[in-house]
Amino acid sequence: MLKPGVLPRRIIGEVISRFERKGINIIALKMLKMDKSKAEVHYAEHKGRDFYEKLVVYTVSGPVIAMVLEGDGVISRVRRLTGATDINESTPGTLRGDFAASTRLNIVHASDSAESAGREIALFFKTEEIFTWEDGNARWF
Ligand code: CMP
Repeated sequence: MLKPGVLPRRIIGEVISRFERKGINIIALKMLKMDKSKAEVHYAEHKGRDFYEKLVVYTVSGPVIAMVLEGDGVISRVRRLTGATDINESTPGTLRGDFAASTRLNIVHASDSAESAGREIALFFKTEEIFTWEDGNARWF
């Protein structure tokens, strides 16, 4: 999920192109505004943490871009591209290392396991909104 900070920075294309350049398939994509209850479900595991309330406020503050990404080892590949959550740890070259100005106001959320991906995808997409596709060229090269 590209968070609300992405639109005002005008970097949707830049962020998405990093996933594409790494050979990851985008199989679903939409822009939407999350409401408070959806944001609370999405971040339920953080309920009670000192940053939770403000995280929810940020998440509902503007439109987000939700995507389903597919590929071999996609969870770890995407998380390497996004970089560390902690702003002091995220290295240049990663999305958070390049664009996040604070840990809470980072610009992208990536599922941390197949299990959380399944839960999070269901929050945003119906089955018929997800399109697996085959890279025809991959057969030849
Ligand atoms: P995300 O990957 O979306 O998952 C949980 C979010 O909580 C995280 O990105 C940050 O936006 C926020 N977050 C996690 N840890 C902290 C922290 N220590 N301080 C502030 N915000 C945090």
